[in-house]
Amino acid sequence: MIDIPAVDRQHLLVTGATGLLGSYLVRDLLLDGQPLAVVVRRSRRESPEARIERIVSDWEIELGKRLPRPRVLAGDLTAPRCGLSDADLGWVARHCSGVLHNAASLSFRGSDRAAEPWLSNVTGTANMLDVVRATDIEHLHHVSTAYVCGLRAGTVAEDDLDVGQDFGNDYERSKVEAETMIRAATGPASVTVYRPSIIVGDSHTGFTSTYHGLFAVLRLGHTLLTKVALGSTSGPAILRLLGVAPSSKKNFVPVDWVSAVIAHGVQKPEARGRTFHVTHPEPVSNVAIGALVQEAVERYSKAASPDDPELCDEQWFADNLSAQLDVYRSYFRNDPTFDRANTEAIAGHIPCPTLDHSRLMRMAKFAIDQDFGRAPRPARRTADPVAGTLGASVG
Ligand SMILES: NC(=O)c1ccc[n+]([C@@H]2O[C@H](COP(=O)([O-])OP(=O)(O)OC[C@H]3O[C@@H](n4cnc5c(N)ncnc54)[C@H](OP(=O)(O)O)[C@@H]3O)[C@@H](O)[C@H]2O)c1
Repeated sequence: MIDIPAVDRQHLLVTGATGLLGSYLVRDLLLDGQPLAVVVRRSRRESPEARIERIVSDWEIELGKRLPRPRVLAGDLTAPRCGLSDADLGWVARHCSGVLHNAASLSFRGSDRAAEPWLSNVTGTANMLDVVRATDIEHLHHVSTAYVCGLRAGTVAEDDLDVGQDFGNDYERSKVEAETMIRAATGPASVTVYRPSIIVGDSHTGFTSTYHGLFAVLRLGHTLLTKVALGSTSGPAILRLLGVAPSSKKNFVPVDWVSAVIAHGVQKPEARGRTFHVTHPEPVSNVAIGALVQEAVERYSKAASPDDPELCDEQWFADNLSAQLDVYRSYFRNDPTFDRANTEAIAGHIPCPTLDHSRLMRMAKFAIDQDFGRAPRPARRTADPVAGTLGASVG
């Protein structure tokens, strides 16, 4: 442990602040007046400080108000002590009493434990726990996933973890190992776990910065329509391609709601020590997803023309996407029922926005407009009137 007297331990140390959920957590926690420190690695183009400045100043423009700046600590989870310098480790010991460990790799596949998703999720969590112990952190909060349940059916309790279940992919396995380590942590006075289901875009604006889950299937329909001249891309055809039962249901949660629940939980002493399924009370059926993909690509994607020199034949599609189809399939198996008694008890007053067709269409339009993250400049998080009006309230 670092031998430095604690002077002002008001800060919460957050990892993964540059990611989709992390950027909302930064917004919500700063708006609540929670002083933050963030562990951030540099990107190809930007320093850790510049990355956080961009995120916070974007929020300021959208909110129309000034926000305090988090203290930025350069680090990488995969390095011992998360790569924090001695000076930064000392600063954490003096100023932080809690950690919100949100960073993770969302790579689904990888058997090499020296690579992702294991490196950031398991080695990275172990390194974060070393920091927690070295700095005498009191309250540890961890963002896990509802899919630590793997391939279980029936009802999954919020405290269930490893019950001998099978898994759909390496990501799920790595998150179970991470959560197991977190729960066994002996230093902190409390360990609290948040398990979101599949995170989709912002319920008001459709904004997203990652394109997993729902967006992976949407991209499949988009690619079919824009690269292969099929004429039309039907929802049922996509579901058949994925090999998923139309009657299956998936649990999606809008990122702004997930962030609101976690930010609330982090600040409430009565939430400490519990596990929360941050999941939707009303899952969406695969039939609705198929219909959404069909309507969204027909409205927003530009269909390939038979004269297009870039046109690909169906064999190209099969060759290029067959490997990825397995990943999509593992997303779209039927979900179990996630018990959400703890979440209701602590955050029942924050209703999860209904993911109706118009809301999902807004998210789909955003993803297609952004070419699934390949558009040259990320769009601002502004509401778009084209997909219908949603109003500002949740529910
Ligand atoms: N998205 C979902 O559907 C979903 C569902 C359930 C649970 N979750 C959990 O929610 C959390 C946030 O996910 P997300 O959707 O916001 O993912 P995301 O957008 O991909 O963000 C991941 C964040 O983790 C950071 N990170 C990853 N590896 C790192 C490393 N080695 N060192 C430092 N930072 C690292 C990333 O930093 P860079 O920007 O530098 O890459 C980024 O800030 C994760 O714990 C995830 O497992 C996500």
